Amino acid sequence: MKTIGKVFYMKPLADYYIIIEIITNVLRGKNLVNEFNYQVDRVLNVGKVKDITFGVFRNYNILASIFALLVPKKINEIQLKSIILIGLYEIKYTNKVEYAVTNDLVNITSRLYKNNQIKNFINAVLRNYLRSQKELDIKLSSDFEYKYNFPLWMINKLTHDYKDNYQDIIASLNGKPKLGIRVNQRKIKLLDYLALLDSSNIKYNKVNDFIYLMELSNYKLLPKFEQGYVSIQDIHAQELINFVDIENGCRVLDACSAPGGKACQILENKSVDITCLDIDNSRLDKLRQNLIRLNLTANIKCGDARNNDWWDHKLYDYVIADVPCSASGTIKKNPDIKYIRTVDDITNFVKLQRDIVHNLWKMLKSNGILIYITCSIFIDENKNNIDYFLDKYRNMQLLDEKVLLPQDYADGFYYAKLKKLAI
Ligand SMILES: C[S@@+](CC[C@H](N)C(=O)[O-])C[C@H]1O[C@@H](n2cnc3c(N)ncnc32)[C@H](O)[C@@H]1O
Repeated sequence: MKTIGKVFYMKPLADYYIIIEIITNVLRGKNLVNEFNYQVDRVLNVGKVKDITFGVFRNYNILASIFALLVPKKINEIQLKSIILIGLYEIKYTNKVEYAVTNDLVNITSRLYKNNQIKNFINAVLRNYLRSQKELDIKLSSDFEYKYNFPLWMINKLTHDYKDNYQDIIASLNGKPKLGIRVNQRKIKLLDYLALLDSSNIKYNKVNDFIYLMELSNYKLLPKFEQGYVSIQDIHAQELINFVDIENGCRVLDACSAPGGKACQILENKSVDITCLDIDNSRLDKLRQNLIRLNLTANIKCGDARNNDWWDHKLYDYVIADVPCSASGTIKKNPDIKYIRTVDDITNFVKLQRDIVHNLWKMLKSNGILIYITCSIFIDENKNNIDYFLDKYRNMQLLDEKVLLPQDYADGFYYAKLKKLAI
């Protein structure tokens, strides 16, 4: 296989090589957001690269259904699949003139492979699509993955979990995301920060006192970002502060803490002694950077919430368990989840979530509160887990729960407030 790195970049097409590389890496199992962020400084037109790479995965089930009809035989070369998916995406979802899509991609294939057979193959597949677009649409109209633009197992799961509104949920998750922001009110009053946004011509909207940006701009352009006046945080992720009234002076464990969105939100609003634990030290580095930027302090520990070797054996008043999950509520921001996740992942996440909570429950004082959070909308990771815990622990009481379904302006989240009874 010829690798993209060795190819001479022709300026107008240069971004396509990076787009192909990102999509191919994601098709091989890498994370889309990470791949995009890794390449972003090399690209000429960030908007275009983001639109195509995220657009391909946002529309993956539709494009993959078309691909399967156009290329019925298995092809081993994943990079060719990427090139075809890009072509299908641009023809179906962008204003780019159709012949220019085909010409550019055939050109790039020819430079990548220097093999006429491969070049002709890409040319034939894309031109075949141009000829048969309507016919394929009709053929696929009864295909569920095509119709809902979602993997079948997720459609089945959502139909089971939300039989009255699964279609709305899917439609919302297939939309483009908005960026929530959190104003650090230790540094600036909300209204004063909104005035700064106005004067920088950054369009935003409010939901209660939460703010989101109308367009996904580069967050580094937000006024006073580096000085810690503002952070990026989804509006539903910020709901924690309304959901639980953490008392000043308490001992708090944020058990799955990185990159620290919720810990920093707590510290901006409360004076508490907080321990931030995470299993992933590179993610903890992001938390460290956030604390420095926001001028906040926390005890940081790298360790596994399923065991005690990092613990000082002093009980906590509050434990925040923002557990690892399928992140199905964040598909708008991470559309590759539709491609990458499998039904077995849910079983594995549920086990991990249970193991974490079993261990953390021991670290909570009597009358202490554990907040269980996921950014998943699957009931197995949410309500069903809570029912399982309530069944296991006689000293556990469910005080409150909140199902926040994905909205135009926010991701899907689940919150449960569990009290440890003194019995
Ligand atoms: C949903 S994210 C946390 C988001 C974070 N609370 C925030 O608000 O920014 C889940 C985190 O759990 C961490 N994690 C996964 N397994 C873990 C484990 N066994 N022990 C501790 N942390 C774990 C992941 O590294 C990830 O950073």
